[in-house]
Amino acid sequence: MGSPRRILFVCTGNICRSPLAEAVLRKKLAERGADDRYEIDSAGTVTDHLGEQADTRMRRTAARRGVRINHVARRVTTHDMERFDLIVGMDDRHLRTLRALAGRRSVVIRKLGEFGNASRAADVPDPWYGGMEGFERVFDMVDQSCEALAEWLEQGS
Ligand code: 4NP
Repeated sequence: MGSPRRILFVCTGNICRSPLAEAVLRKKLAERGADDRYEIDSAGTVTDHLGEQADTRMRRTAARRGVRINHVARRVTTHDMERFDLIVGMDDRHLRTLRALAGRRSVVIRKLGEFGNASRAADVPDPWYGGMEGFERVFDMVDQSCEALAEWLEQGS
């Protein structure tokens, strides 16, 4: 893969994991003075929460850790497969949906857990039905993988 500049994160509802990853990666690239060289967005595989801001629990968890989430939920489209260089899902179901949408297009599709965890690419679990500790755990996983992703993006540039 060349050096991707347009990166899309995808989860199920686009109200917890992927808007968090979008905000975390943007912040990490800004800290490296590189955010203006990237386009970062997020989308979901289902329509249940279209037009909504991210879940309050996710936004509060992120805010406590210095990350501001500002995203309106939307569904991933086939057009995204042409617009983005790298699409990053949270679990294997997202990867299957994305691969089906991409068809023969050359967009690169990866799982977030692949970054920073060479031996085992864990799913980032859906925190929606659980307690606050689930949101903290999601934050930790997303933060760790986005650190590795930012490092990799900037090394390749
Ligand atoms: P997300 O979490 O995929 O991280 O945004 C979810 C939020 C809502 C639903 C599923 C996952 N839902 O089915 O409503």
